[in-house]
Amino acid sequence: MGASSDIGAAVVRALTAAGHDCLGWGRDVGRLPARSRVVDLRSPTEVDAALAELPERLAVVVYAAGLFDWAPADAGDPGVWDELVTVNLTAAMRVTRGVLPGLLAGAPSSLVFLGSAAAHSAFAGNPAYVASKHGLAGFARSVFLDVRDRDVAVTLLSPGLVAAGAGLRAPGVRPEQLLRPADVADAVAWVVGTPPHVCPVEVQLQPQRTA
Ligand SMILES: NC(=O)c1ccc[n+]([C@@H]2O[C@H](COP(=O)([O-])OP(=O)(O)OC[C@H]3O[C@@H](n4cnc5c(N)ncnc54)[C@H](OP(=O)(O)O)[C@@H]3O)[C@@H](O)[C@H]2O)c1
Repeated sequence: MGASSDIGAAVVRALTAAGHDCLGWGRDVGRLPARSRVVDLRSPTEVDAALAELPERLAVVVYAAGLFDWAPADAGDPGVWDELVTVNLTAAMRVTRGVLPGLLAGAPSSLVFLGSAAAHSAFAGNPAYVASKHGLAGFARSVFLDVRDRDVAVTLLSPGLVAAGAGLRAPGVRPEQLLRPADVADAVAWVVGTPPHVCPVEVQLQPQRTA
């Protein structure tokens, strides 16, 4: 999910290189990988239809779809916030419910959620994003507890700003100071490549230097 972003595309490349047969979900047909499914995550009907087409056994699921909103609490649009929470959290929960039977059948297996530094800390100017990612963090931790003894590893992977997508539109950023999509993809490949008796429950990535 989110395979049409630079981060998602890098994840698909890394997992393909690791031997996985990847299927990417998104809406932007021009940016999706060769094996893909057009899905609007705001639509429960579309999500359920795409879930029904998945194989019975799954090895890895990466939920990388996400929306940003750079608006302070006293200026944000509640309609935009609704959409953001739907894509970042509600759809992630629905997709998780839908893929867990396949991940359990394919265990040992991995479920990876793209979190954010905003899953762990508050930031001024994007309260809806911070709220959605905090919610995703809580959900990921709980899902891990529900399936850990059935060999599904669940990881919240939280990068700081990445030189991709909305990261490039963050106020005052210099792209050369940011993480790169390949850094996130390398971390996903490492997470899903850990031995079955290990679960990297939470992984945070930050650029080494601030200047
Ligand atoms: N960029 C950063 O600095 C940064 C930092 C930390 C974490 N992250 C996380 O990394 C992930 C990707 O972020 P990004 O910055 O690369 O954003 P992006 O380039 O804007 O990509 C957003 C992705 O979400 C998908 N998406 C959005 N709404 C959707 C919908 N209604 N239905 C289906 N797919 C939808 C988009 O697919 P379509 O365009 O095909 O609809 C796209 O693949 C997000 O979870 C974000 O929170 C990003």
